[in-house]
Amino acid sequence: MKPTLAAFPATRLRRLRKSPAIRALVNQSVLSPGDFIWPVFVRDGDGVMEPVASMPGVNRLSVDKVVEAAREAHALGIPAICLFPYTPEHLKTEDCAEAWNPENLSNRATRAIKDAVPDMAVMTDVALDPYNINGHDGFVRDGEIINDETVEALVKQALSQARSGADIIGPSDMMDGRIGAIRAELEREGFRNTLLLSYAAKFASAFYGPFRDAVGASGVFKGDKTTYQMQPGNSDEAMRLIERDLSEGADMIMVKPGMPYLDICRRAKDMFGAPTFAYQVSGEYAMLAGAAERGWLDHDKVMLESLTGFKRAGCDGVLTYFAPAAARLLNG
Ligand code: PBG
Repeated sequence: MKPTLAAFPATRLRRLRKSPAIRALVNQSVLSPGDFIWPVFVRDGDGVMEPVASMPGVNRLSVDKVVEAAREAHALGIPAICLFPYTPEHLKTEDCAEAWNPENLSNRATRAIKDAVPDMAVMTDVALDPYNINGHDGFVRDGEIINDETVEALVKQALSQARSGADIIGPSDMMDGRIGAIRAELEREGFRNTLLLSYAAKFASAFYGPFRDAVGASGVFKGDKTTYQMQPGNSDEAMRLIERDLSEGADMIMVKPGMPYLDICRRAKDMFGAPTFAYQVSGEYAMLAGAAERGWLDHDKVMLESLTGFKRAGCDGVLTYFAPAAARLLNG
């Protein structure tokens, strides 16, 4: 006897999942190595690869090793690498002058990469924390992070990065007005094609812990960053920050951290349609890589699943410490 209409589901959505072929046809979010910006930690020395204890599989690299890494990343199809310097204690000062030293680690690494692998886009970080005696992203006076004097320093830092050949400058400091000030200075100095990727919606997050170890900022850091980074509960404020930074001259915007803030990514993409990136930060990497190391999670599967989530949430790309491993897997 044939079933009556009511005897079977009118819509069998499982038909769309019936085989790898059908699933491939209806797949909406495709991840590729071209989506990745790879953050790397740079330290002084030669031939050095120093493991970061709280980030299994991640190393601090000396400039020569960073160049090697950039070459490998380029071969894997990764378009951009993002540099974070591990600054020796004696170069941390109250005036943070090392931040705009043309010979600082970040600037030397930028020139070395652009020299050896010119097609690799180099992104640099604008913030004072690697150079500050107290680990804050801005100058501290009487316990307060002072905005406008900090912006003046950030402009000098950004200009020194542009002069070293950085393709993308990433202000991660969350001071007010820094995008406009940096953009104006870049135009004045003839850097018309230097991109600004604003860490526009950056939350005060405990997920940055392993990063602060990696760049050597944990020991000196006092207090928290809650007067400049956002509180985790806010979404409207993130939209206002993104709108502001785009209007000041940002080419692309970032949401950071990533996985706990995918709603912010989606909302930003829907609202502004600008190139939108998420930063899967050190703590997100640590919890996945750390659990995988213990055999509690399948490394490759959680890596790809977590990265696919960013694409589904509307991101054009992801900053991720998994970049080379994920690219290798995607390339088959
Ligand atoms: C600071 C900066 C931080 C990160 C990137 N730039 C840490 C912070 O704000 O304290 C974190 C990245 C990560 O956790 O992977 N300018």
